[in-house]
Amino acid sequence: MERELALELVRVTEAAALASSEWLGRGQKNEADGAATTAMRQMFDSVNMQGTVVIGEGELDEAPMLYIGEKLGTGYGPEVDIAVDPLEGTTIVAKGLPNAMTVIAVADKGNLLHAPDMYMEKIAVGRNAAGKISLDDPIEKTIDIVAEANNKRIKDVVVIIQERERHSSLIERVRAKGARVKLFGDGDVGAAIATAMPRTGIDIFIGTGGAPEGVISAAALKCLGGDMQGRLVPANVDEFNRCVQMGLKDPHQLLMLDDMVKGDDAIFAATGVTSGELLEGVAYLGGDVAETHSIVMRYKTRTVRYIKAEHHLLHKPQLVTTGE
Ligand code: FBP
Repeated sequence: MERELALELVRVTEAAALASSEWLGRGQKNEADGAATTAMRQMFDSVNMQGTVVIGEGELDEAPMLYIGEKLGTGYGPEVDIAVDPLEGTTIVAKGLPNAMTVIAVADKGNLLHAPDMYMEKIAVGRNAAGKISLDDPIEKTIDIVAEANNKRIKDVVVIIQERERHSSLIERVRAKGARVKLFGDGDVGAAIATAMPRTGIDIFIGTGGAPEGVISAAALKCLGGDMQGRLVPANVDEFNRCVQMGLKDPHQLLMLDDMVKGDDAIFAATGVTSGELLEGVAYLGGDVAETHSIVMRYKTRTVRYIKAEHHLLHKPQLVTTGE
């Protein structure tokens, strides 16, 4: 992949963040998601690549754009697989809460797992514990391993878990072990990535969430030198068959980081919509000026860039997609 692609992808996540931020706090999550999707789709048209969406907004018959199999880009440049989450945290934006972002992961053609839209059990850790953990280990053992790797006392280990009924016994076990639990409402991509950013103080991400978000998080963890594993959780025969159709011989297999994001290159880009662990949200500075904060990283070079941009919206009419 050409290195220019990384910065081009930031233009795409910025456009989606600006568009969805118009819906902040309006209680309309589908509209917020739709605005992000439209803006992202529009901006992709100008990116030099021959992209195919492998993780997107659904199948051709259920999503008008960014559907799985859709071709993106100018048709020139590298052949790539694209995973998009135009708005990670639709409910967050609808409620005006922290931690929403727009996200893209890209890898060379054939290198991203084609994860169906179902649940996945996931675990993520930062660089020090990479290669030492297993999703199959009891959480108590994982806490011991990560405490040692991160040179922390058990009581200082922070495990981030999505606040859901399905995680109640996991939460109890972490607390019984003596570690701390940090709960979050929505947005598990940011939670997984936080484990690889020592300043967040978060050591382990664990729990069940969306499989598409799992693969997108894996791309970021790979760039950051962290570790992530997953296992799909087909809820019925249809979901099981869907996995097989998408190329997974054993839908219940333990997926290692390199099973989810193969090869020697990957790019992850995200822009904050509302402020969170990773990024500040879109800020309107008065007049027609909006500020965005983005992160873009690449596995091949391990470069991590934070990009703060000022957008003069009157000069970017294509970005003003408010529903008003
Ligand atoms: P959306 O942006 O699609 O609403 O997803 C938010 C999210 O919190 C994901 O980060 C997570 O993987 C998933 O929902 C968890 O699903 P559920 O809300 O069903 O527990």
